[in-house]
Amino acid sequence: MLSLKANELLEIKNLLESRKPNHGLPRPFYYDDLLYRTEMEFIWRQGWLFAGHSCQIPNPGDYFLFEVDGDSIIIVRSDGGQVNALYNVCRHRGSIICEEAEGHVKRFICPYHQWTYDHEGKLLLVRGMQEELDKSQLGLQRAHTREVEGMIFISLARKPMDFEAAYAAIAPVAHPQGLNRAKVAKIMDFDVHANWKLVWENNRECYHCNVNHPQYIKANFDRFNADDTIERVAQELAVVTARNKAKWGGEGLAITRAETGMTEFPDTEHNIWYSANRTALTDGFVSETLDGEQVAPLMGDYSEAADIGTMRVRTLPNFWQHSSCDHAVAVRVVPNGLYHTNIRMIWLVDAKAEEGKDYDLEKLLPFWLMTAEQDWQICVNQQKGVSSHAYTPGPLSKYKEYNLDRFLHWYLQQIKIAIG
Ligand code: FES
Ligand code: FE
Repeated sequence: MLSLKANELLEIKNLLESRKPNHGLPRPFYYDDLLYRTEMEFIWRQGWLFAGHSCQIPNPGDYFLFEVDGDSIIIVRSDGGQVNALYNVCRHRGSIICEEAEGHVKRFICPYHQWTYDHEGKLLLVRGMQEELDKSQLGLQRAHTREVEGMIFISLARKPMDFEAAYAAIAPVAHPQGLNRAKVAKIMDFDVHANWKLVWENNRECYHCNVNHPQYIKANFDRFNADDTIERVAQELAVVTARNKAKWGGEGLAITRAETGMTEFPDTEHNIWYSANRTALTDGFVSETLDGEQVAPLMGDYSEAADIGTMRVRTLPNFWQHSSCDHAVAVRVVPNGLYHTNIRMIWLVDAKAEEGKDYDLEKLLPFWLMTAEQDWQICVNQQKGVSSHAYTPGPLSKYKEYNLDRFLHWYLQQIKIAIG
């Protein structure tokens, strides 16, 4: 546990107070080591982190590694079918056990002296050790896990924060998507040269969309706000929303966001770090693809329903996901030092879909890959700028950056709580 000295506490307090309301964060928030350590300890090691999807490890013994703040965690399917999160640290002399980022193992065998563990982390075999060794005390350390509709979350906290409210908010909205009946179509990893907060700040506004996301804006209404929702746009959204409600309201697939602009998130006052909703796509778009056409077989319960908008999930501090009728795209964000963020994108399709027959990556990937790469470049540019001595935070748009302000409020609140 990080313990702060009095002068460090004061330094952070002064920093928190240095942010002007409705402005971006001052420069030290993007280069201060002490603040970074505080973030890791109190946000990343206390919160619930999206690790990946259940369908990445369909069979007992399937695993993948999840690296957070220097810790390597093995996310493994146990023989009983549940998901375990085990620290990838041998209980003998601390070697990592799994070297490959993903795979399938019958047993975890440490490469150093071959201590052997099962999928629960239980120590099974040691060789050359004294007989009185109590193996039951030497299992792999565990992190907490929760699964929601095929999405795996872990917490590194000794006593994790409540997850029930998040589960209750996400599960019913996500259920029809059938993410637990999906398969991975593609995983891509990015090392983005930007602080993790910049990645979120960019995610929380669509002020930049018109110019930077020529593909994304064709499919979505969230670039329009109170200041620029012209009559034609308002009418189109009303038509799409009413049609959707009449057709799918009874099935629980009605669009829950009937206004332009992004869904308000997060909500610090009510401790809302999670959200899920169904959002309209523009008329003629049934999927978030370049031409709006379906590019893979319908997922989950969408047996005849292609025109069901997009289902979106987001959880702080590290996850958002957009799901269309035929595919889902998850984004997992993890800081890797002050100036780097590791970002993983995961494309999912229905488990029975066959590549080359039912879907092609050339059609499945571009919409989100292009949008994401446009965003990463924005973040890199901003990191360069905020590192400059000339940078001072400017005012935020009340029409277009309300969610960015919400994010900053949430972030500052977390740090404030952390330092007491
Ligand atoms: Fe793993 Fe020795 S460090 S068996
Ligand atoms: Fe963007």
